Amino acid sequence: MMGSRKLKENIFWVGAVDWDRRVFDSLIPLPDGTSYNAYLIKGTDKTALVDTVDPSMVSILMSHLKDVDSIDFIISNHAEQDHSGAIPHILERYKDARVITTPKGKGLLAEHLHLDNERIITVNDRETLSLGDKTLEFIHTPWVHWPETMVTYLREDRILFSCDLFGSHLAVSDLFYHEEWKVCEAAKRYYAEVMMPFRTTIRKHIEKIKEYKIDMIAPSHGPIHKCPDCIIQSHAEWVSDSVSNKVVLPYVSMHGSTQLMVDYLTESLSLNGITVERFNLVTTDIGKLAMALVDAATIVIGTPTVLIGAHPLAVYASFLSNALRPKLRFASIIGSFGWGGKAAEQITGLLSDLKLEILKPVIVKGKPKYEGYRELDRLASEIANKHKEQGIS
Ligand code: FEO
Repeated sequence: MMGSRKLKENIFWVGAVDWDRRVFDSLIPLPDGTSYNAYLIKGTDKTALVDTVDPSMVSILMSHLKDVDSIDFIISNHAEQDHSGAIPHILERYKDARVITTPKGKGLLAEHLHLDNERIITVNDRETLSLGDKTLEFIHTPWVHWPETMVTYLREDRILFSCDLFGSHLAVSDLFYHEEWKVCEAAKRYYAEVMMPFRTTIRKHIEKIKEYKIDMIAPSHGPIHKCPDCIIQSHAEWVSDSVSNKVVLPYVSMHGSTQLMVDYLTESLSLNGITVERFNLVTTDIGKLAMALVDAATIVIGTPTVLIGAHPLAVYASFLSNALRPKLRFASIIGSFGWGGKAAEQITGLLSDLKLEILKPVIVKGKPKYEGYRELDRLASEIANKHKEQGIS
């Protein structure tokens, strides 16, 4: 099969690498592109295709399948279009093929792709399907990050096809990537942007997956993991309740006053032994901000007042932080105003779903003076004390 790549005997990668894609969901920056991984499994009796590709890359998938005469099953682990979008084309070419999905997946595939219900078979949690000498087991893992998601375990070869879970937006020419740190960083970025809001659910799924002997994890984005323990352990830490002695400090400044406060607070926190990750919202990559939020104990938003409220970039960062549901425990706001406004109240409201403790903000009029700097010292020391009280080190 031209362009396909062999994982193991009779198991092939047949997906598409999207080297040039730079934004996902019209929101998420993709500094290193991505891939849509699809896998072909040839059993002695039947052939299965695990997931497909984004509709923009159908022709590449079809070229990889050029010499494949028959496909009996299309395993749809996830109904989102970057993995399911090419299913109609596969069904058109392979007239006897049936789609395998969860009961919730059936409804979503019908809605999003207008598939014929007659060609969809639903499977229960841990149900199996024999391809002859190979057996697929379907493990339901709902809310990763849609309600219908499942992963597929190939028993004889001990491969877990995990779709979005354990994935990374990383375009590479090899099936397996040798720079482990780069995959881990991309996987953390992917987790932060897509999976973090579902962390408590994913925690349970990781325990379920640990019951299986796994030699390889083949996700639907990015390289295949030859060391499943590393990527599972990384995710186990990210979804855990533990946080680091760290403050994430997204900020924006208009005339330099808020910038002075951010610089001073950074120093003061550092003197208190706290790590600070700063993000100037004018230029920052929001993926890096999301990654920093994965294990931070505290967020401090730095914002000037524009008209009568917070700067729109600070509003965006606060809204996003709230939506991503990081395990933050404390928050505060610092900034300067010209003549009035309610920036701190506005940001506090935007973070309301996080159920965290708001520490007294530091808002000054104009350029900060002695009292303002003393207040920033008070805030740094309060954060340090709160971290100590909760054993965050
Ligand atoms: Fe990669 Fe949820 O789609």
